[in-house]
Amino acid sequence: MRERIGVLCSGGDSPGMNAALRAVVRTALYLGYEPVGIYRGYQGLIEGQLQPLAASDVSGIIQRGGTILRSGRSPAFQTLEGRAQAYQTLQAHHIRRLIVIGGDGTFKGAATLLSEYPDLQILGLPGTIDNDLYGTDLTIGFDTAVNIAVEAVDRLRDTAAAMGRLFLVEVMGRDAGFIALHTAVASGAEAVLVPETPTDFDAIVEVLARGWQRQKSSAILVVAEGDEAGGALKVAQELQQRFPHYEIRATVLGHIQRGGSPTATDRILASKLAITAVERLHEGASGAMVGLLRGEITLTPFEKATKTHAPLNPLLLKLVEILSL
Ligand code: F6P
Repeated sequence: MRERIGVLCSGGDSPGMNAALRAVVRTALYLGYEPVGIYRGYQGLIEGQLQPLAASDVSGIIQRGGTILRSGRSPAFQTLEGRAQAYQTLQAHHIRRLIVIGGDGTFKGAATLLSEYPDLQILGLPGTIDNDLYGTDLTIGFDTAVNIAVEAVDRLRDTAAAMGRLFLVEVMGRDAGFIALHTAVASGAEAVLVPETPTDFDAIVEVLARGWQRQKSSAILVVAEGDEAGGALKVAQELQQRFPHYEIRATVLGHIQRGGSPTATDRILASKLAITAVERLHEGASGAMVGLLRGEITLTPFEKATKTHAPLNPLLLKLVEILSL
């Protein structure tokens, strides 16, 4: 019997998960393993929803968003009993090696499972639109999410300029402002509100007043959902009070940013990281996330990858400020 490698997606799905899955399956086959898909993340592992995957099972998915394995969050996996059940499933299906695709919750779960069952071998792939993992400059799905948000802001700019309005656009990022900051730079937004820096309403009003004075036809503020000021609708109310003469509208992009076809950047990133993950698993590595740091593929221990995320690039923050003149 061939040795097996299990693979699952967990947490919020991200565009490019399918590209990663395809590469995991085909590299595993190439190295002589039998890849086994685990459906619905850790919950499916607990419930025994597994199926061996052939090369043809991952045909035609590189361009598809979401994940054919399905994903989810499993409260049961956070319990000792749930993880014991998950381990039993792995044993019953002769799986000792596992690749988990997801974000920080996924890796925290994997690290806990490993601490309880050190005979397992687990590596992670960073699949989240948030880009909030330490140990990789890019997560799989981030580039797609930013491009979707930029396209949306471009559309909003058209109507904002036609009507002379201020738009607040809320993008995803529960704890991180990466999507917001990159979207703001790429769409020429007047300002950006991110959880990593304190929101200064006086400074925002100053930027808006300056634009008003020089008769700018519109203004766009990009707001990360996790900003402490409380989301686009709340910020719109606050600004309306300080700026009664401005017509203000707020748009929440929400899960639109998570769907659709992954960009070429995400497909290539997913494929590269996934191939390395299987190769490194084959060589005996475990307990780490495979990421891309300054062009190099590196392994970062789960505990380090989930502890914090890299800081926002101060140059990009400065860019938004200077270029909104
Ligand atoms: O972690 C990815 C993410 O899309 C966050 O940006 C967002 O806060 C969260 O997931 C939304 O989660 P759910 O899909 O459970 O509403």
